[in-house]
Amino acid sequence: MRIQFDDRNLMAEVVGDVHGITRAELKQHSSKALEALAGFKKIVENGSIGFPHLPFQNAVAKDILKYADGVRGSYDTVCLVGIGGSALGAWALDCAIRGPHPVQGTFSKKHPRLVILDNVDPVFTRLALDSMDPKRTLVVVATKSGSTAETAATFLIVREWMKKKLGRKTSQRIVAITTQDKGDLYELAVRESYRMFYIPTNVGGRFSVMSPVGMVPAALIGIDIRKVFKGAAQMTHLCWQDDLKKNLALRAALVHWLSLVANDKPIQVAFPYSNLLWGTAFWFRQLWAESLGKSHQRSGEFVNIGQTPVAALGVTDQHSQVQLYIEGPNDKLFTFWAVAKHRDSGKIPKSTLGLGSFDYLGGQTLEKLIDAERRSTEAALVEASRPNCTFTLERVDEEHLGAFFQLLEFETAFMGELLDINAFDQAGVELGKQFTYGLMGRPNFEVFADRFNQYEKKRG
Ligand code: PA5
Repeated sequence: MRIQFDDRNLMAEVVGDVHGITRAELKQHSSKALEALAGFKKIVENGSIGFPHLPFQNAVAKDILKYADGVRGSYDTVCLVGIGGSALGAWALDCAIRGPHPVQGTFSKKHPRLVILDNVDPVFTRLALDSMDPKRTLVVVATKSGSTAETAATFLIVREWMKKKLGRKTSQRIVAITTQDKGDLYELAVRESYRMFYIPTNVGGRFSVMSPVGMVPAALIGIDIRKVFKGAAQMTHLCWQDDLKKNLALRAALVHWLSLVANDKPIQVAFPYSNLLWGTAFWFRQLWAESLGKSHQRSGEFVNIGQTPVAALGVTDQHSQVQLYIEGPNDKLFTFWAVAKHRDSGKIPKSTLGLGSFDYLGGQTLEKLIDAERRSTEAALVEASRPNCTFTLERVDEEHLGAFFQLLEFETAFMGELLDINAFDQAGVELGKQFTYGLMGRPNFEVFADRFNQYEKKRG
């Protein structure tokens, strides 16, 4: 496993003093990074946060693989019902290993596909159901709380759709992933005898990709979860090192934090130059936004802090976003995600058309072109004094993905420490949820329906 981090284009000597980090700042704040490492270690050691332990849970992996082996060949589609942290990790893995959705290979019982129902758009849900055969579908329902409205509503629809064709056998085709001994999904799963896997209570949704939330759907579509764990475990060891050269997560957190607080870069553009990593960019967007966008520091001080993550796809978005990135407000930090070795080099045939726009490309490769385009964009950003940095994954495979997920989760946790905020709660999403419960008539949420009505009144 090999992942590198190059932050030279964040430095003042490359992008200038106003937008770059000076060597003196880096030196001065290195001790703060080490404090962040120690602070996070304490939280993990006291058991409050559990994601760093997930890649070492061999018994869980064994259990998942045993279940997946037992059902293999009985379905051609895995239908995942879940939202946010209960869906995005599986999507990232599927996109990276089976391929981006519009161009995935054909599916069969040997090569099942993943259909993720992570929205309550009625037309999307109907089209998804129409695309699946209940007799050849295995349903995975994932919700840590066991009560998320979107997941509950969609699951009721999917369960009914299965029941119409399978009757009492439906229960055998449903896997529930939730908190053990707690919540309504757990209750229903016990009542209807679903196969269950559990999310540890100290692992939050957006940090749960390496728990059964990500690993069950991944194993069911044939992803080698042992390799995911292997890469993640290797990266975890590196993330506990107190050497900023070896600990890429800590180094990345430090320079992202300095760019935010010292150089006023409230936006981070995550810029993968690989369609396979597009799902991971969406997974990361949630991780960074929900973990770091906070109103208060742990001391209680009101800060309204955070760094808005934007996902852009290289090279496609060079023809969509880069004009803004080069000439618009200098309020962004660009984090490129490069791949050293693509699965296919994309050989371009020799061209003797006698046409200048074509012939020079003939005989070269798309791999060389995508790399040249990224490096050119980095250089152009530097000329416009726009700070940028690059993670390079040797390959996009299970091992590197596991390592990269873990690196980004540790980086997020360290960033939370540097900002002195709680990166593991999400109070900001609660009120919207409570209003929805009130509007949909959930018992005990009448007070939120009233509060919503007051808001409507105010609007006249
Ligand atoms: O990261 C989080 O905590 C959230 O994105 C949750 O994953 C999301 O809200 C879904 O929650 P649950 O798994 O309880 O249905």
